[in-house]
Amino acid sequence: MFEALPEPKADAILALMAAFREDTRENKLDLGVGIYKDSMGKTPIMGAVKAAEKKLIETQDTKAYVSPLGSAPFCKAMIEQVFGSEADTGRIKAVQSVGGSGALRILADLMKQGRPDADMWVSDPTWPNHLPLMGAAGYTLHKYPYYDASNGQVDFDAMLTALGKARAGDIVVLHGCCHNPTGADLSSEQWSTLIDFLEANDLFPLVDLAYQGFGDGLDEDAAAVRLMASRLPEMVVAASCSKNFGLYRERVGTAMVMATDAAAATRAHGLLGSVIRANYSMPPDHGANSTEIVLSDSTLNNEWRAELEVMRLRMMNLRQQFSDALRKRSNSERFDYIAHQKGMFSRLPLNTEQIDTLRTGHGIYIVGDGRINIAGLPEEGLDTLADAICTVMAES
Ligand code: LMR
Repeated sequence: MFEALPEPKADAILALMAAFREDTRENKLDLGVGIYKDSMGKTPIMGAVKAAEKKLIETQDTKAYVSPLGSAPFCKAMIEQVFGSEADTGRIKAVQSVGGSGALRILADLMKQGRPDADMWVSDPTWPNHLPLMGAAGYTLHKYPYYDASNGQVDFDAMLTALGKARAGDIVVLHGCCHNPTGADLSSEQWSTLIDFLEANDLFPLVDLAYQGFGDGLDEDAAAVRLMASRLPEMVVAASCSKNFGLYRERVGTAMVMATDAAAATRAHGLLGSVIRANYSMPPDHGANSTEIVLSDSTLNNEWRAELEVMRLRMMNLRQQFSDALRKRSNSERFDYIAHQKGMFSRLPLNTEQIDTLRTGHGIYIVGDGRINIAGLPEEGLDTLADAICTVMAES
């Protein structure tokens, strides 16, 4: 049976995470996997989430099955968080998913039933796992250029030119905010133009919303989704609670469909239940139930929002300080873009050899495409880090 199997392909981000754990050097620095870290380099459980977990443990009196669709109050609260309090809940339905990745996969499987011939378009670059995840759902993938490394912004013209080659009915994967891995987001004018373009060319948006609250704010980061919902007939959204609730290992997320009418939305919702049942039967409860408690209790909700805001502001501050340190050390403005980008990631202009040297020679772990986790930047060691980066860049 197993002799004929191919060798597994390592996931670049997870392999880097494992290598960092095994590194015994004391002054090692993890700028790899997208996990929020505080100024102590720790990823603590958020206070509001911890309180909700305690409440859950104290009050939960059964572990009986819920449903393949997950908790209805959790889904309702997530629709409101993403689509806003005015969301048309007739046309918008949600299921609880196994993290954001699980949402992407079940939505991909659902859309395969709806439009078996559609291809899928992903940004170049994108989160590396989009490729195997969508490939495993049977999609032919195309890439659209996205990032202009010369100015740290979105290459919007190149993006639209490439998407002009998509066929009517194709699916376009969009990062709702805080683009992973570049940190370069569309402006609101560009979103508006893109929405017209999607509508005119009959392209279907799949929005990956993994970092809501890490860019400009909780509501601000949902602005693109809400604009799409107000102007397009259909869309799907994969929302993750991994980062903004710090629930990474609990696997909490939501798959949302917006259909042309309530009947189509109800059908899609039911079919998502069938996709889930045929796959893993039902989602895990603990994380989503804790999230539901946070969202439904006004005190915990306020506490969570305040904690999230502290995280967001910390990352914004680090962006500015790191770009200042690099400006000082390089005596140039070439890294200024870091201060203007959004969310957890930016990309450094490093080649593979330079990234290897930073890891082997300095204990600095950076993803192979130059992506750094802004939350992992050392507040007290930014000059040293800037020096290591500029030294390595000057050497090769
Ligand atoms: C990341 O991009 O680092 C995170 O989304 C974690 C992951 O699963 O890759």
